[in-house]
Amino acid sequence: MIQGNTSRRTAFAIAISEALSLLSFTAYAQGTGPSATEPALSQGFRFFEMSGKELFANVCQGCHMSDAKGAIGAGTYPSLVADRKLEASGYPLHIVVNGQRGMPPFGAMMSDDQLAAVVNYLRTHFGNNYRDAVTSEDVKAVRR
Ligand code: HEC
Repeated sequence: MIQGNTSRRTAFAIAISEALSLLSFTAYAQGTGPSATEPALSQGFRFFEMSGKELFANVCQGCHMSDAKGAIGAGTYPSLVADRKLEASGYPLHIVVNGQRGMPPFGAMMSDDQLAAVVNYLRTHFGNNYRDAVTSEDVKAVRR
């Protein structure tokens, strides 16, 4: 009888402490979590380089290599040299802005002008010679 009482009291104590920790967690989450008015994604990091050449060197070549030939190692990074898939400007623009599988999206980290610059640089270097430059208007259209 005494034992039954004790275990009931223990169970009650556990329930109370769980309820309390849930309450304090909820308060914590309300204090620090994103609210409905704030954007859910961090607005944190943005690249500051402005030219396509600098952007390619500092952002893209980490994976695609400085000669744009790509690499195979821990992942597969396609070559962008004389890349027929760059002919339709919308294709590389879409991938750079929105990402695709192992390719990260850069839309939130670059301005429209930066995105246009790096795509134009890529499409006119490394054996690519597509002169129909994309504009910041094209970038706006591709952003989701
Ligand atoms: C973290 C590594 C990484 C970085 C940084 C990166 N890429 Fe990529 N990229 C990839 C991978 C992986 C793919 C293949 C995606 C797939 O499997 O569809 C790819 C694919 C591409 C393609 C499509 C190529 C094709 O022939 O289909 C283009 C264009 C491209 N990247 C351009 C860029 C540009 C421009 C930058 C810099 C702004 C960049 N990438 C930065 C990893 C990266």
